[in-house]
Amino acid sequence: MQAIILVGGEGTRLRPLTCNTPKPMVPIANRPFLERMMTHLKSHGITDIILAMCYLPDRIQNYFGDGSDLGLKITYVMEPLPLGTAGAIKNIADQVELTDSVLVFNGDVLTDVDLGAMLDFHVERHSMATIALTPVEDPTPYGVVQRDAEGRVQRFIEKPGWDAITSNLINAGIYVIEPSVLRYAPPHLHFMFESGLFPVLLQVGEPVYGYPTNAYWIDIGTPQRYLAVHHDLLMGQIRMQFQGEARGNNVWVGADSIIDPTAKITGPVVIGNNCTIGRNARLTGPVVMGDGCTVGADCVLEDVVLWQGAEIHNQVMLKTCVIADHTNIGDNSWITNGAIIGDCVTVGSGNRLEHGIKIWPHRTIEPSTITF
Ligand code: GDD
Ligand code: MG
Repeated sequence: MQAIILVGGEGTRLRPLTCNTPKPMVPIANRPFLERMMTHLKSHGITDIILAMCYLPDRIQNYFGDGSDLGLKITYVMEPLPLGTAGAIKNIADQVELTDSVLVFNGDVLTDVDLGAMLDFHVERHSMATIALTPVEDPTPYGVVQRDAEGRVQRFIEKPGWDAITSNLINAGIYVIEPSVLRYAPPHLHFMFESGLFPVLLQVGEPVYGYPTNAYWIDIGTPQRYLAVHHDLLMGQIRMQFQGEARGNNVWVGADSIIDPTAKITGPVVIGNNCTIGRNARLTGPVVMGDGCTVGADCVLEDVVLWQGAEIHNQVMLKTCVIADHTNIGDNSWITNGAIIGDCVTVGSGNRLEHGIKIWPHRTIEPSTITF
């Protein structure tokens, strides 16, 4: 079976993390998100993967190559301009033969949904398009799907206001489609599943079904959810392998990393390769440190994701924040409460970055500039 992953979006809501890194390549516990997703597909025997690309495609292609390192066959299809979610699939169908029912994934959803069971559901109902549905507390940022008693979709409402919400089941961004439905998509034009193809299929009376699942599911596309997925992953809500030596108590340590004996590490904590953790530093999971990070003396880290090469000086407090590649954080700084620090940022000593503040790549914040 072929699986198409939509990886062409710009990931605007995840900026500044996605300024230089396409959303599918943001690390999830030190592995690109897309690698984690494709590993899930492989566990279901799906190895023929087509990527619908548009934004920063080289980063993706250079990392995965032909996919053979992961035991996959990866085909890359570029869009000259963003063609939208359904337009991207139509564009692929022009270039690659889609042989049978095809799985389509939004390239930012992490899930352990049973794909085999979803496919059986699709086949049993002679569905033309089947949409995986997941319950959420706040459906407003998603597509809400209304079904009849047999599970046939009656209405699809993308990003509804609260007054239009009739169900807490939303489109999980995972579909099984019959390639023939693509005849309803105009060629070479921007066309979305959500606002275009699904409404058209419903209008012409094609059978579209919703497949509800209680499997783990998250869209990683905002900083809050990016932190949440690390929390869930490290707390064991979804099973994945971590790199490094398992030291017990949910602590994994990569090669050539040095932890001062006075440091206190309380799992779940994943430490990459070539990291250094200084005197009396205190790490309380969930914490992820990418390769080549340094944490100085007396630092406190809790609920933190560090990408690669972060240099954290002494007596720094990092709590509920994300720090991207090659940042430098000066002594006595506090970075807390949902702060997101982009690549190559320098934070001088004594700053307090809090309340969801976002610092764009390559900025320098002079010592003691932000202190409220
Ligand atoms: N190739 C390509 N071309 N991919 C695209 C394009 C495009 O023009 N536009 C968006 N994508 C990809 C994005 O990269 C992402 O992987 C996926 O399509 C979904 O786009 P998002 O921007 O993340 O959409 P969303 O999260 O607001 O809403 C979608 O996902 C929700 C579930 O997470 C919708 O499908 C909702 O209905 C759904 O509930
Ligand atoms: Mg999304």
